[in-house]
Amino acid sequence: MQFSDTFSFQSLHDELSSQGILILRNTQLRERNSLGFAATAELSCVIRSAEQIPPLMSAVLSAGMPWRVLGGGSNVVLPAHLPGMTLLMEIGGQAIISNDQAATHIRVGAGVNWHELVAWSLAQGLPGLENLALIPGTTGAAPIQNIGAYGVEVSDLIQSITAFDCTAQAFVEMTPDACQFAYRDSIFKRQPQRYIISAVAFSLPKNWVPQLQYADLTNFFSAPKNLPSPTTIFDAVCTIRQKKLPDPKVIGNVGSFFKNPSVSQIQLAQLLNTFPRMITYPQGNGSHKLAAGWLIDQCGFKGAQRGAVGVYEKQALVLINLGKGTATELLALASEIQAAVQDRFGVLLEIEPVRM
Ligand code: EPU
Repeated sequence: MQFSDTFSFQSLHDELSSQGILILRNTQLRERNSLGFAATAELSCVIRSAEQIPPLMSAVLSAGMPWRVLGGGSNVVLPAHLPGMTLLMEIGGQAIISNDQAATHIRVGAGVNWHELVAWSLAQGLPGLENLALIPGTTGAAPIQNIGAYGVEVSDLIQSITAFDCTAQAFVEMTPDACQFAYRDSIFKRQPQRYIISAVAFSLPKNWVPQLQYADLTNFFSAPKNLPSPTTIFDAVCTIRQKKLPDPKVIGNVGSFFKNPSVSQIQLAQLLNTFPRMITYPQGNGSHKLAAGWLIDQCGFKGAQRGAVGVYEKQALVLINLGKGTATELLALASEIQAAVQDRFGVLLEIEPVRM
């Protein structure tokens, strides 16, 4: 059902435009999702300041229409039609807000491009985010999936999050504990209809220590003469990522399409018995992560094509749009991969991006 079937676009437009909020109809989102899928938002609103959110959401919630937030669109699978309201998050601005002996605190608008923020923080002489270089998307989206790469998760550096709570219809300041961060997970991912993140505050510690324990970085910096600087690590991460992962501007993708699954000690022992070369990472809590890319690769999917979608030839964890792909085709390929991995290894792969 089209939302506008049951509600007058004109009355919503009139109510909000008197408050300086512009509602658009039938916005094409192909340029706003890194898979490059054609998708039309029935209604949309570009959010450039936090003040727009309460009146907009008051109207959206009281009309009972479906809604969602789109940031950089780099971790979403969009259907062809998005009913109701799509908030296009573009709140900008980043600033150092305070300094104490232990850390520098910065506050960043939800719409700021993540990689540009990482580069800006290093240019200010503030290390800490360098392992997370070149991750596509926006700063407001980073805590939702708790982005992580090369041994660092964004939750390690978050001080607080400002979000509009749609239940209370008020802004709240959330501590990291309240965000319930876990591997590629948070309260924002589990309760997508509750919070709209408007700003993120980071605490960048002054006693910076390079994080080089991840195998790719350890190998890159094998036998260094001096400890690498934050910018050297930033450059290394960019080089490694560019080698392994497709540039979404060239080949549509959302990075890892599945989470690395976790298994118990007993399951691991059984798996290693049959598959002694399986790649595993101990979690320190008795469980072990498996490399989903390796599992998919072993099932022969690297470089596979199904119609206009496929599996990236250099990294089996990345599904790609070959041109005119759709969410339906991509999710069918994902199901085929899940079934093959389940059949061969008895492990369920969980889809990582958000299906809207
Ligand atoms: N592997 C294969 N075949 C493949 C892919 C991987 O054998 O086709 C093996 C690799 O050789 C390696 C292991 O599997 O030994 C793990 O691969 P990799 O180091 O590339 O890391 P990953 O587990 O595939 C994770 C994150 C990435 C992140 C990298 C680096 C998840 C789901 N993915 O990938 O995150 O950049 O580590 O830290 O946790 C993302 O979330 O979009 C993303 C790219």
